[in-house]
Amino acid sequence: MWDIEGREYIDMCCAHGAALLGHAHPAIDEALRQAIGLGYVNSFETEYHEQLARKICECIPCAERVRFCSSGSEATLHLIRACRAYTGREKIIRFEGHFHGYHELIYIGGHPPAATVADNRSKPYIESAGIPEEFAEFVIPIPYNDPELLTEAISEHGDETALVILEPVNYNCGCIKPQPGYLELLRQLTKEAGIILFFDEIQSAFRKSRGGAQEDFGVIPDVCTIGKALGGGLPLSAFCGKAEIMDMFQPAGPVQHSGTFNAHLVPILAGLAFVNEAGKPEFYAHLQELETRFHEGMDRIIKMHNLNMIVPHHGARFSILLGRRTPALRYEDTFCHSKELMLNLIKGWWERGVYFHDYGGSAVHHGYCIQHTREDMDTVLNVLEDVLKDLKHLL
Ligand SMILES: Cc1ncc(COP(=O)(O)O)c(C=O)c1O
Repeated sequence: MWDIEGREYIDMCCAHGAALLGHAHPAIDEALRQAIGLGYVNSFETEYHEQLARKICECIPCAERVRFCSSGSEATLHLIRACRAYTGREKIIRFEGHFHGYHELIYIGGHPPAATVADNRSKPYIESAGIPEEFAEFVIPIPYNDPELLTEAISEHGDETALVILEPVNYNCGCIKPQPGYLELLRQLTKEAGIILFFDEIQSAFRKSRGGAQEDFGVIPDVCTIGKALGGGLPLSAFCGKAEIMDMFQPAGPVQHSGTFNAHLVPILAGLAFVNEAGKPEFYAHLQELETRFHEGMDRIIKMHNLNMIVPHHGARFSILLGRRTPALRYEDTFCHSKELMLNLIKGWWERGVYFHDYGGSAVHHGYCIQHTREDMDTVLNVLEDVLKDLKHLL
């Protein structure tokens, strides 16, 4: 990337994960040219929509039916509605630290300020002004990776709970991974209680494998959302799942889902191009090579300079969590992270030609794409090391 003064950067944000193919990828350029030839906006589905839906069903283990929309927030909104209609229940169990979009149904209870975490479990924290407090009555926040509190929440609220929603890899809060056995327990308890298990794979789908976290961890949810990488850089998301739940949507069932720009032909063609690229054998082999190289390098830097930080990762995305040396298991474990120091580090990296998105200094996620090379990763490692060793006394 180049800024307005013409300075060059290696991009370690990649559009928050949407640019897994990088920028100006020839397959996406070709899809855009194809769209111009076809007439890119219309109000019906084409053979390309069907092809992409079929490919998603081949890749994503839980997908028996697929519907398209433009953003991750829309996808979670519509699928939550279907879960409620299917179960006839209204409550949502969610995890602290996880993010599922900006709408009234779920922008509640995810990221309470440190001082209010204890209260969050009885009075879920409303994350934006303008969301009526009544919406919080439907949300039950619990900590991730805590089998006891999960069991307790399901035994107390199971009869009124429609869904449990989670980021299987919590990229939005320090890339926290599920502890061994936790997803399996979640699968078993939701099944027994008749609750829909909802993986929000907007970020994790296609990140490490074509099947998303459900393939990586071998636990299949009832439904999931996918997005970001799927559109190859264009606005496309999808939700999918078991036929009996997806058939709640019109015209088969009573749940409304419609919209002028849903399944717009341009992102559909880009999505098809993306899925085809991701299906090439060298695709995940290259991403895996970058992942290994980058994280071996980071481990070496952390050890050599005795840095009080970790860089957790899953596939082509990772977090930088300052102030601890062991993996975080839940939201509170990330409170050691200094946003101020992170902003200083990022400034130093920018000055040396590596772009990290600042996220206000929070421990969110960063990543690379299929067009990064081994040499790029080595350059990034050198730049990271340079600034980290200068500021290590603050860690
Ligand atoms: C897991 C997850 N769900 C939902 C969303 C919302 O997606 P969008 O920004 O496309 O609305 C995001 C975006 O970061 C996400 O990471």
